[in-house]
Amino acid sequence: MNDASMDRRTWLASAAMALGLLLSYGTLAVQGMMYLLPQQIGRRGRKLFAGRLVDYRVGGVRTFLDLEGNDILVKRDDNGLKAFSSVCPHLGCRVHWVDAEKHFFCPCHRGVFDETGIAISGPPADGGQRLSEVPLDVDKDGGVVYIEVKDIKRS
Ligand code: FES
Repeated sequence: MNDASMDRRTWLASAAMALGLLLSYGTLAVQGMMYLLPQQIGRRGRKLFAGRLVDYRVGGVRTFLDLEGNDILVKRDDNGLKAFSSVCPHLGCRVHWVDAEKHFFCPCHRGVFDETGIAISGPPADGGQRLSEVPLDVDKDGGVVYIEVKDIKRS
């Protein structure tokens, strides 16, 4: 065996190793991005990770941001979980949960919503309004909660 064939073998072995490493790290990078990015649901929505079911206190509310920066309020009661948009149906102010009073409250015009999101006081009640529900999915096997939000609009 001469030096030229040895060099060619060494070069081919190095090229095969480099290609293998490139494919391995490329696959790892793609898998990592798929894990980190929200899962797309259809054309217009995404599933966002919203914690584990065991981390939700019965009677409590946890808050998450959707892709447009609005709060999503996820409430757990004896019947399970419900998610609501924090956008007040009256004039669009931000509603929040008042744990001591066990209701949702909008500070703009003192709108009050019960635990199921139905307006019980203030202008939203006069208009028969309620908080918009946000679809929610609980993976029973893993106990993982996902909220389904609208995709961001691209211009
Ligand atoms: S905007 Fe919420 S009560 Fe008016």
